[in-house]
Amino acid sequence: MLTHSALKGSLPNRFRELWDEIAPIGRDAGSGGYLRYALTEPERTLRAWFREQADRRGMPVAQDGNGNLFAWWGDPAAGDAVLTGSHFDSVPHGGAYDGPLGIVSAFLAVDELRAAGVTADRPVVVAAFVEEEGARFGVPCLGSRLLTGEIDVDRAAGLRDQAGTTFAEALGEQPAGADPALLGRFAAFVELHVEQGRALVDLDAPVAVASAIWPHGRWRFDFTGEGNHAGTTRMADRRDPMLTYAFTVLAANKEARLRDAHATVGRVSVEPNATNAIPSRVTGWLDARAAEAETLYGLVEAVRTKAADRAGRDGTALTCTQESATPLVAFDRGLADRLAALLGAPVLPTGAGHDAGVLAAHLPTAMLFVRNPTGVSHSPAETATDADCAAGVAALARVLEELACR
Ligand code: GLV
Ligand code: MN
Ligand code: MN
Ligand code: MN
Repeated sequence: MLTHSALKGSLPNRFRELWDEIAPIGRDAGSGGYLRYALTEPERTLRAWFREQADRRGMPVAQDGNGNLFAWWGDPAAGDAVLTGSHFDSVPHGGAYDGPLGIVSAFLAVDELRAAGVTADRPVVVAAFVEEEGARFGVPCLGSRLLTGEIDVDRAAGLRDQAGTTFAEALGEQPAGADPALLGRFAAFVELHVEQGRALVDLDAPVAVASAIWPHGRWRFDFTGEGNHAGTTRMADRRDPMLTYAFTVLAANKEARLRDAHATVGRVSVEPNATNAIPSRVTGWLDARAAEAETLYGLVEAVRTKAADRAGRDGTALTCTQESATPLVAFDRGLADRLAALLGAPVLPTGAGHDAGVLAAHLPTAMLFVRNPTGVSHSPAETATDADCAAGVAALARVLEELACR
């Protein structure tokens, strides 16, 4: 049990001080949201900040061959380490907390343990995983998928951003892929994350432990038709892929509601993207999630069938490509129950993806969620109070103490 703190100021104040160091990085003045895409300038600034924080604490930093950063506290020879951390990258105009909260909290939790005079028997390692959101290269949790060998390394290397830059080019080297030797040095992973819904507001609790992540995936629907003049092409003569696309968005919404599942088309691209031209091509990306895999794949199949049928009627063509898939993640039940009892915290499932979901297939893994008063995430409105973030740090410190001190 942590008993005292030799650190200056209250934990909420220490949280705020460290948080303010990164708050301006990658912030868009217009939306108030963040543009922290993996391996772009703002995310590189955050990676440099990570190295500086580790330096200040005397924690050696190593980057693996896949772009993930690891800062080690304690003797690496002392045994398998307890890994904690999250990601710096954001979705377009995302919130401040999704990702960085887990990294800032990890450094502060190490401070708490140190100040309490706790000597860990196992090393504690703070991680920053690369491209968790998939906002730049399209595949979420790319860094943790590479580390665990859950994505083909050549496929990952060749993923392109919208400017045509490949992941390997952005990284500056060919990614190394699966690293069982590094993975084998970790005994457990704990990711702290802002909650991305309202469950903790409803429960009136600051912190929860995760039980599961819904299976989810991304599908690219390419609709092609005939580009033509908006003013001179008779309505009956058109082969307009925008119509097939619009129908498909409505079908996805309807099919998801029928199944208590989630379907979102949050990204679209149109060619030639002119007000006075019938498009030649529309691409929409479907994000689909459900409590069970059977429901998820049933939903996507229903949308695909309806879209193909509609394409036949519109004289358009459709191809559908699955771009990523994440199976149901059931976190280690024994570990979740143990941490929930330790913290007196509720246990909750989530529909959001995390590196913890990828690592859970390889290591005993747990997640802590910190209350989000708006319940909003992937938006500038995402927030958390300093008091709740401090409660999250204290909870993480207790968990690290529990797992790293035998
Ligand atoms: C990432 O945050 C996701 O759940 O898509
Ligand atoms: Mn996210
Ligand atoms: Mn996240
Ligand atoms: Mn995520």
